[in-house]
Amino acid sequence: MPNVKFYCLMLSSLLMLAACGDKGKPAMPDKAAASCQFVSTKDNSPLAIKAVPTDSDAAKVFLTTCINPYSKLYAGDIEAAKAGKKQFAYQGCSGCHGGNANGLMGPSLIDAKWQYAKHNTDKGLFETIAGGTNGSPPEWGSMLIWHNQVAGHSGEGLDTDTILQIMAWLRTQYVGGGETPWLN
Ligand code: HEC
Repeated sequence: MPNVKFYCLMLSSLLMLAACGDKGKPAMPDKAAASCQFVSTKDNSPLAIKAVPTDSDAAKVFLTTCINPYSKLYAGDIEAAKAGKKQFAYQGCSGCHGGNANGLMGPSLIDAKWQYAKHNTDKGLFETIAGGTNGSPPEWGSMLIWHNQVAGHSGEGLDTDTILQIMAWLRTQYVGGGETPWLN
């Protein structure tokens, strides 16, 4: 029998040490506050997506600032943008949204008619692709979960970089006119 009481004692003294160690230091900003706070499009609950060692610098910047660095890159570099288009086809997005993303059995992703108003921001678009939707009736069904850190994701799921590259390519295809806040 492990000595439960002993472990409890150990644990509580460790916790006390940790607490004492913080005393006298300036209040550090909450670590989470320095990151983009994603929420699920399904129910607004927090969508915890963290940087992983394989993430590019661009992905890490996005996870901190909510701004997709690929958007400006692709806007000025059609060759680079092809990587995003390739992923869009390879990952099967085109099966529902059409090869040019202008809609099929899923909505067009390049017009000004957004299923959720937040999709004109990088953060909002990422939240829907990463965490899926419940469907916004009556037009379409729901979108799958794609991010490999979100439970219930489709297949092997996608990493942050892949989603950002697809998003940035979609932005280059935008034909809706009006504001393009993702390039600000
Ligand atoms: C099985 C079909 C299906 C696949 C595959 C699919 N989607 Fe969707 N997607 C949908 C449906 C249906 C909606 C509408 C959801 C809603 O309104 O809640 C949608 C909505 C979206 C939206 C929001 C559109 C808008 O007008 O606001 C984006 C962005 C999107 N999908 C991106 C993707 C990407 C990127 C992929 C591939 C990684 C993908 N989808 C794969 C069916 C699909």
